[in-house]
Amino acid sequence: MSTAQKTLYERLGGYDAIAALAADLLSRLQADPQLGRFWANRGVDSLKRELQLLIDFFCSRTGGPVYYLGHDVRTIHHGMNISESDWAKFLDHAGTTLNKFSVPAAEQSELVSMVQSFKNDIVE
Ligand code: HEM
Repeated sequence: MSTAQKTLYERLGGYDAIAALAADLLSRLQADPQLGRFWANRGVDSLKRELQLLIDFFCSRTGGPVYYLGHDVRTIHHGMNISESDWAKFLDHAGTTLNKFSVPAAEQSELVSMVQSFKNDIVE
């Protein structure tokens, strides 16, 4: 299969690579002084469940052989009062994670476009 025909999932390196990206990003979000409030006082099990759902979401959205069984993105975030400024911080952390794992520019921009397509469902 040529590069052009490969799914984003495959080009990112498949399940394990995407799982590593999601784990790195989630821990950065939790550690951020502004964003940390969204994850304050959450139990270990609920964080593990969230990470698994995040992995499933990204795998399935990038064309991987994974079913995402979580709620839709709007329902999940509705009522959290996520602001433009929170969104900008989220994108900063996503960029740091993608660079840390040396994800090439083309794949970064595809992934970021996919994420941006959900902005209106998340920012209130
Ligand atoms: C500033 C940006 C964001 C913040 C503060 C945020 C916050 C959160 C929080 C606190 C949860 C846990 C909800 C719970 O279990 O009660 C969550 C879950 C989740 N988020 Fe986000 N999120 C952000 C951006 C995104 C983006 C861009 C996506 C994907 C496009 C996303 C996808 C998900 C998914 C798939 C889950 C787990 C699904 C589920 O619990 O059913 N989030 N988010």
